[in-house]
Amino acid sequence: MKQSRILCNSLQGRVMSADAAAALIHDGVNVGMSGFTGSGYPKSVPQALARRIAAAHAAGEHFRIGVWTGASTAPELDGALAEADGVEMRLPYQSDPVCRKRINAGQMEYIDIHLSHVAQFVWFGFLGKLDVALVEVSGILEDGRLVPSSSIGNNKTWLDLADKVILEVNSMQSDKLEGMHDIYYGTSLPPNRMPIPLVKPDDRIGEQYLRCDPDKIIAIVETSAPDRNSPFSPPDANSQLIAGHILEFFEHEVRKGRLPKNLLPLQSGVGNIANAVMAGLNTGPFDNLTAYTEVLQDGMLDMIRSGKLAMASATAFSLSDAGLAEFNDNIDIYRKRIILRTQEISNHPEVIRRLGVIAMNGMIEADIYGNVNSTHVMGSSIMNGIGGSGDFARNAYISIFMTPSQAKNGQISCIVPMASHVDHTEHDVQVIVTEQGLADLRGLSPNQRAKVIIEKCAHPDFRPALLDYHERASAGSLGRHTPHLLDEALGWHQRYLREGNM
Ligand code: COA
Repeated sequence: MKQSRILCNSLQGRVMSADAAAALIHDGVNVGMSGFTGSGYPKSVPQALARRIAAAHAAGEHFRIGVWTGASTAPELDGALAEADGVEMRLPYQSDPVCRKRINAGQMEYIDIHLSHVAQFVWFGFLGKLDVALVEVSGILEDGRLVPSSSIGNNKTWLDLADKVILEVNSMQSDKLEGMHDIYYGTSLPPNRMPIPLVKPDDRIGEQYLRCDPDKIIAIVETSAPDRNSPFSPPDANSQLIAGHILEFFEHEVRKGRLPKNLLPLQSGVGNIANAVMAGLNTGPFDNLTAYTEVLQDGMLDMIRSGKLAMASATAFSLSDAGLAEFNDNIDIYRKRIILRTQEISNHPEVIRRLGVIAMNGMIEADIYGNVNSTHVMGSSIMNGIGGSGDFARNAYISIFMTPSQAKNGQISCIVPMASHVDHTEHDVQVIVTEQGLADLRGLSPNQRAKVIIEKCAHPDFRPALLDYHERASAGSLGRHTPHLLDEALGWHQRYLREGNM
């Protein structure tokens, strides 16, 4: 018989079914749930809650809750609750298709927040009261401390601040996750804040376990279910070209003496391009690399295994099925090289600035002056959210944004006259990369940036029109510092909405 992961005798009496636990969550409450990029989210209570909400709606009752997480979750959480129309307010990040549809239809409120801000906003009381914490763990020790799961996210904050706690203990998570975490309990509120004593990516500054007041635990549900493991497609031609430009840039920076031979700690966003960059680094000339990042994808595991990546600090895994199987098979190797932290530390501006992180993130579009839109299609439809990209971009040693130069089969240019929404201003963007090339914007004025971005990054099909816009704006705009023709600046987006083509 499988050994129970609940070793604390005094908590045994609180074990119950998911339905019984969901019955303890009421209309109007805010629930802080675990989960970050599809890992470590509660697998069964949210689904039971969605059923309960659907039944309440069928009976004509009001039932909607606030759902706060670390970052994105999975269909069993975001999908199920959105489908049941059970979410009044969602924050700080999502990537679920059903959720996204409801948000963009104006049926669900959503606040898109820098991931490093969430914990402190809750501590400050900016987001209202946190009623319930619903957190997946991989075990409960004899003394009641919790063994964290495959992501940490905001779990420490939820457990500390919620009135009541519901735990899901997932026996499918490897028991060897124990010891990989570093939970920092030293943060305090201003004006009493002290420096975070983390000076190298592999520093351990906290504890291996989450603390939780046992009196707050109202339910424990045992589960055995996998994380949402998304497959990675093999790097396509564009991703390989983007990766190639970035590697060339790193080599150039090392030659110039602006980066050490083993670079600086890497942060890599999620998705196929980021994974392709890791694949490129894995066969590239740099050794003894480190990562101070948010999410560990398959590409970083490959680099750890090959010895290229000496260690990685993150807050969550985001693996494919194959990546997870490989991780579990070789977990003894990975355990020594990976540290999972709370997202307030993995994404902390102070630490990112101190370590000199190289930030690499995806984007939807950039304008000719280097303002970046990471979140909103055509300026109004949310895709996912800013996530940690702003935490890293603003504070990085070098901040890189990457995208294919075109989207939707060439109907959209990802380099536009004016970004239709701005998440990262020109001041936070040092390098833009597309498959066409890399624009190094450091030390350039807006007009100099425009020339480099158009020449190096825009697709040849859109380059003449962008040059033409910039020339006419330079001649006709009121100010010549950042020239714009305001009645035309968003005309490309309007044309796409009208005609399906920019
Ligand atoms: N206009 C309209 N749609 C666009 C677009 C543009 N300029 N650029 C991309 N898209 C569409 C794509 O067509 C695709 O649509 P589909 O899902 O219907 O196929 C979708 O956006 C995703 O684009 P893709 O090229 O597959 O990019 P991606 O998976 O690398 O994601 C972001 C790009 C920007 C959405 C993603 O990086 C993101 O959410 N970033 C913000 C959060 C972040 O940076 N997190 C990491 C921080 S640690």
